[in-house]
Amino acid sequence: MPVQLDAVPETLLWNLYHRAAEARRPDTVLRDPRAVELVERIDFPFEHRFGPATPVLAQWQALRAACFDREVRRFLTHHPGGTVVALGEGLETGFWRVDQGTARWVSVDLPETIALRRELLPADPRVHLVACSATDERWLDEVDTAAPVLVTAQGLLMYLTRAEVHRLLAACGARIRAGGLVFDAVSPRMRDRSARTAPADAQAYRPPRWTWAIDRDERRAIRGLPGLSDLETLRLPRGRGLAFRFLMPLAQAVPPMRNGLLSILRARFGPQRRS
Ligand SMILES: C[S@@+](CC[C@H](N)C(=O)[O-])C[C@H]1O[C@@H](n2cnc3c(N)ncnc32)[C@H](O)[C@@H]1O
Repeated sequence: MPVQLDAVPETLLWNLYHRAAEARRPDTVLRDPRAVELVERIDFPFEHRFGPATPVLAQWQALRAACFDREVRRFLTHHPGGTVVALGEGLETGFWRVDQGTARWVSVDLPETIALRRELLPADPRVHLVACSATDERWLDEVDTAAPVLVTAQGLLMYLTRAEVHRLLAACGARIRAGGLVFDAVSPRMRDRSARTAPADAQAYRPPRWTWAIDRDERRAIRGLPGLSDLETLRLPRGRGLAFRFLMPLAQAVPPMRNGLLSILRARFGPQRRS
């Protein structure tokens, strides 16, 4: 099936391409046969557009997804019938990686991406697709916010403005009574580099620039949003090879290094716990 996407929606194909490259390995850190199948079915010049999928980027992309999966599994263990809302889900296949038979899943993405999910991924009575911007509070109307909800935003918030991120998180905090939020965020250094870096080859893929980043002040600002509490940085699962088995876990133990590139964070909905 031919696929043509632009700007931020096209980035979902980069993620999928790298996840599938990692999933093809016999020693993969993320079993994801659906990602492999999607790349085979989609008529898109992945290698020509994005270059070869290097093993390092592919494994890193898969570990990032595995970190989100770990949080979703943890949530579903405590709330087997809970709802997972995946904002900006693209062609992520996390539902099939973590489903234990009772989870409810809401996928929120822009209309062109939801149209692709409808076309390419199997329908499931427990999966509900919502075609609207994550910044449009209409998606919250489609979620049972009185029951526990885990909201995930993988590879999304860095493309929004600071005001949009704050409004979105505050809307979740105001309406969702229990559950949590897992999202990733780039450092200001990465954001600034994304605005500057021009590829040496003019034909090479240049991803859209990131507009929102997180540093110490921004973490404090997020902590101060009503309805959110216990913001903490998560560690990627241990991977394969020297870099991902030893060096990355070491680097993640040192906050300036851990927060220097991309962080994955978790917050809880509800009032601050008294310590
Ligand atoms: C980098 S991709 C991430 C896709 C997927 N979460 C993953 O990790 O593979 C960014 C995704 O955000 C979606 N997106 C961009 N702007 C959005 C918005 N305002 N609301 C919801 N989704 C959006 C794109 O369509 C795309 O699916």
